Formats: sequence, C-alpha cells, structure tokens
Amino acid sequence: GGEAHVEDYSFSFEGPFGSYDQMQLQRGLKIYTEVCSACHGLQYVPIRDLSALGYNEDEVFAYASQFEVWDPELNDGDGDFRTALPTDQFPAVTSANAPDLSLMAKKRAGFHGPYGLGINQFFKGMGGAEYIASLLHGYEEAPECAPEDFPGNYNTVFTAGGYPPSCLNEEGHHTVPGSWIGMGQPLWGEDVEFDDGHSNSLESEVEDVAAFLMWTAEPKMMQRKEAGFIGVFFLLLMSVLLYLVNKRIWAPIK
Ligand code: HEM
Repeated sequence: GGEAHVEDYSFSFEGPFGSYDQMQLQRGLKIYTEVCSACHGLQYVPIRDLSALGYNEDEVFAYASQFEVWDPELNDGDGDFRTALPTDQFPAVTSANAPDLSLMAKKRAGFHGPYGLGINQFFKGMGGAEYIASLLHGYEEAPECAPEDFPGNYNTVFTAGGYPPSCLNEEGHHTVPGSWIGMGQPLWGEDVEFDDGHSNSLESEVEDVAAFLMWTAEPKMMQRKEAGFIGVFFLLLMSVLLYLVNKRIWAPIK
C-alpha cells in the first residue's frame, strides 16, 4: 500500500490536437454551480469568459445575476453588495475553509516519476484534471487500522491530509493509500440533471467537473497549442532556408 492511484482518463483536450468539448464544459459548470460552489470559489475567473462555453450575452448576464458581489465604490465609497455583472469574477467562497478552485487543475499533478524524471508526465500529461476526477471518486470506507473517530474522510487519492499512526508499519511506511481529507464526498452520481438527458452517473460527473476546472485553470489552452504549431512551422521553414543558404555559400569551395 501507500501509493495513491490516479486514473489516466482520456480527456478531449489532451494531446497536440485536443480541444475542449463545450458541452462537457457546460455540464461541468452546472455541477460546479449546484454542488462545489457551496464551499469553493472561482475568484480568478471572469464570468464573461463563460461565452467561451457557447453561452450568448443574455445567458452570461443571467448567470452572473445569481451572485452578489461586494463593490467598494458603492455607498459613497463605503462599499455595498450588488448583483454581479459579467465583468465581475466568480465570487470567492471562504466560509467552508475550502481552497479556491480557479487554478487547482494546474496546481496539482496526477502523474509523477519514475525516479523524479517526469517520464510519466511526458507521456500522460501533467494530470491535473485526472487528479481531480480521481480524487472525487477516491472516497472509500476507512480502513480497519484507523481509529473510528479519526478526523476527516478517507480518500485513496488525497495524500496531503491526516494519517493515523496506527496505519503505519514498523518501518514507518503507510500501509494504506491516500489520507484523510477535510472534504466530505461531494458527488455520488445523479447529483444534477442535464436538460439534454446526458448521463449524470458519478463517472460522468467527475469527468465533466474536472474538465471544467481544467478550463478555468487554462482557458487559453487551444490558443497556446495553436501558437506552438505556428512557432514550429516557422522553425521548420527557417531550417529549410538555412540549409539552402548554407549550400549556396559553400558552393564555390566544394
Ligand atoms: C478540497 C474539489 C465540493 C469542501 C478540495 C480540493 C479539490 C476539491 C480539487 C483540493 C484537494 C487537494 O488539496 O489536493 C471539489 C469539487 C467539488 C467540491 C470539484 C464539487 C463537485 C465541496 C463541497 C465542500 C467542499 C460541497 C463543502 C461541503 C472542501 C474542503 C477542502 C476541499 C474543506 C479542503 C480539504 C483538506 O485540505 O483536507 N475540493 N470540491 N468541497 N473541499 Fe472540495
């Protein structure tokens, strides 16, 4: 035991030609809004960016208007709450002591090693979205080695939480994977309903919300890939030109 296992999902946005699936991002937004936003904020994401998920101006405006934001300029500079506009960011949520999720998919890595070489990351990607999806269904009944009142929820993928000494072996190594997390299992399957009748199985939900959180962390992933291709194209073009120039310069001597 001891090793947490992160599942290697195949997300639509992976690989050099991958791109976000707008419908999946819309489902992920719905799951975030109806479940995760009770505890987690997305304070670095501008609400107007939701137009990238295929929503029109009215829909983005309607989405924004469900939130209240603090506006320091109102009330003669004393500040006051007002209905959020598309130009605001998603609210921060601090009440549950849960981390902001805006950049979580870039903060965490799903794959490591071997031996610190990063070879798994080279072949499978960094795995931030995989980590989130795996974490969300990494909950299991606490192992018998743990005291019954050990605080938190046993999760086989979360490694940064509390761990009972009674689950260590003589060498001090973990005998069960993962650790105890402060978040109760948030998704169980059938937590939300989709208008188009799309599956709301646990498996499908964790992938959708993980894809959405990948988008919040890296909304311009497609543009980054495109810029990379253009860069490689010009480097190739330059290689050809340099080759020809080299031939011409040395032609009289050869
Ligand atoms: C932590 C995702 C719902 C409370 C986290 C983490 C992620 C996450 C990725 C960070 C894990 C890490 O540090 O590696 C989600 C998603 C949710 C959701 C996608 C919706 C599907 C909730 C809800 C609550 C909550 C509804 C409160 C009832 C917390 C807390 C932590 C946490 C307290 C910190 C746990 C710790 O460090 O021990 N969540 N969460 N989450 N979440 Fe959630």
